[in-house]
Amino acid sequence: MMLDFLKILPSVPFILEGVLVTLQYTLLSLFLGFLWGGALGLMKISHCRFLDIFARIYTSIFRGTPLLVQLILAYHAIPQLTGYQITAFEAGVLAFSLNSGAYVSEHIRAGILSVDRGQFEAAASLGISYFSTMKDIILPQAIKNILPSLVNESIDLLKESALVSTIGEMDLLRRANVVAAEKYIYFEPLLMVAAVYYVMVMVLSHFAKVLEIRLRRSD
Ligand code: ARG
Repeated sequence: MMLDFLKILPSVPFILEGVLVTLQYTLLSLFLGFLWGGALGLMKISHCRFLDIFARIYTSIFRGTPLLVQLILAYHAIPQLTGYQITAFEAGVLAFSLNSGAYVSEHIRAGILSVDRGQFEAAASLGISYFSTMKDIILPQAIKNILPSLVNESIDLLKESALVSTIGEMDLLRRANVVAAEKYIYFEPLLMVAAVYYVMVMVLSHFAKVLEIRLRRSD
């Protein structure tokens, strides 16, 4: 069997439009997941037992069940429960952000614990409030330490975003499937999207590396 990429040439722009869809999911979920993960991470190291237990149970559930199940639940269960007709985009961003928050919270927690305890004590002895200590002293260092994990998270989200093709969203993977079904050829469109995902991941990794080097230089 011969591969014939010329056959999908007319569909290339159609497939590539999926890059924007994929990026929208990834960036928005990464941002919201980071905020939510930050909040959960702080709950885990807080002295409030209730918040700590809540955040731990949350993380355990969201990491312990498949993202695909969470996505389908968000898409089908929310309308059933609330009557609100959630769009595929909303359901996707919701599921990915809630899921990513669970993973990010662990990174943030580890990052905060990696900052020397003496800094908390020094800030407290200077009368700096808990909020400013976290925002201005601890978190900037913690985030720097966990930057590689956060980049990994963004790479994971980028690839996991392909799951939205199962709820009808026209992302990269779905577009490749549409072309495959129209032309009865599978290898060419799917190999093409695999290559596009790969290039996107490589670009992300490259930016991460540059950022890491810059941050290290600023030390
Ligand atoms: N494939 C895994 C799952 O289905 C990964 C979940 C997403 N990972 C992440 N870092 N947000 O549960």
